[in-house]
Amino acid sequence: MKHPVYFLGAGPGDPELLTRKAERLLATCSTVYAPPLYDQAFDELLADKKLLVPFDYYFSDLLEMLAEQSQNSPVTFLIPGDLTFYSPFQALVDALGEQAIVVPGVGAANAASALLKKTLDLPGVCSRAVLASPRTLGDGPQAPTMRDLAAPGVSLLIYMNNIPLCELVAQLRSGYLQNVPIVLAHRVGLPDQELIIGTLDDIVGKVGDRDLFNLNSPDRRPALTLILVGESLTGEADPSWWDYRRDHIWKFRDCKGE
Ligand SMILES: C[S@@+](CC[C@H](N)C(=O)[O-])C[C@H]1O[C@@H](n2cnc3c(N)ncnc32)[C@H](O)[C@@H]1O
Repeated sequence: MKHPVYFLGAGPGDPELLTRKAERLLATCSTVYAPPLYDQAFDELLADKKLLVPFDYYFSDLLEMLAEQSQNSPVTFLIPGDLTFYSPFQALVDALGEQAIVVPGVGAANAASALLKKTLDLPGVCSRAVLASPRTLGDGPQAPTMRDLAAPGVSLLIYMNNIPLCELVAQLRSGYLQNVPIVLAHRVGLPDQELIIGTLDDIVGKVGDRDLFNLNSPDRRPALTLILVGESLTGEADPSWWDYRRDHIWKFRDCKGE
C-alpha cells in the first residue's frame, strides 16, 4: 500500500511558524526531503528522520524513490513558505496526484508583514498588491518589466530579485512616479532576520555594498530577501474606517441574529 506524500508549508524558517497540522504529519514520517536551511533550522523536529535534499535528484529518480519510500510510511517534503507562490514542487504534486497531500503554511510575505506590523492593503492608500519576480517575467519584447507593475496605490512584493538594486529602484521610481517606501526583508524568521527600511531615493545608500540578493555569488540561488514597496509600508490606518465598518458591515450581521 502506498502511503501519502506530504508537501508541508514549512514557513520562512522559524519552526515556531509551522502549523500544528504540519507538525503532526511530519511526526508520522521517517523520510523527509528538506531544502538546505531547513535541516538546521528544524533540527529538533528532524532528529530521528532520514533527511534528503530534493534538489540532489532528477525528477524521474525522485518519483522512483518516492514510490519505494512511501511503501513503508508517509514521506514529507518541507516546502519553503508554502506552495502558493514561487514553489518548484508543483510538478511533483501533479505527478503524484491523489497521493500528494498539500498543507498550507506561512509564506515569506505573511512573515514580513508581521515583522513590519503592516497590512499590505490600506483603504485610501493601497488598493491592491502585486506579487512578482523579475526572474520569471520573461525577457521577450512583450515581457512586462518591474516598471510596468509599479504604480501609485500598489503594494509590490518582489521575490527572487536578480536585478542590481540601483537598476531595480530606477524602474520602480519611474512606475510609481514618486518616492515611496521600500523594505528589504532579509532572512525573515531566522535568528539573524533584518528589515532594511528606506525609500526608493535612499535605499541604495542604506544597503551600501552588501550583496543581499546573491548577485555576486558563484551560485545562482535566490537569496532569502523579499522586497516590499509601496505607500502601505509606512501608511497610517484611518481609525474612522473602524466605525464605518461597524455601521455598514458588522452591525448588519448583528441585526440578522436579532
Ligand atoms: C523560491 S521563492 C519561495 C517562496 C515561498 N514559496 C514563500 O511563499 O515564502 C524564494 C524567495 O522567497 C523569498 N523568501 C523566502 N523565504 C524568505 C525568508 N525567510 N526571508 C525573506 N525572504 C524569503 C525570497 O524573495 C526568496 O528569493
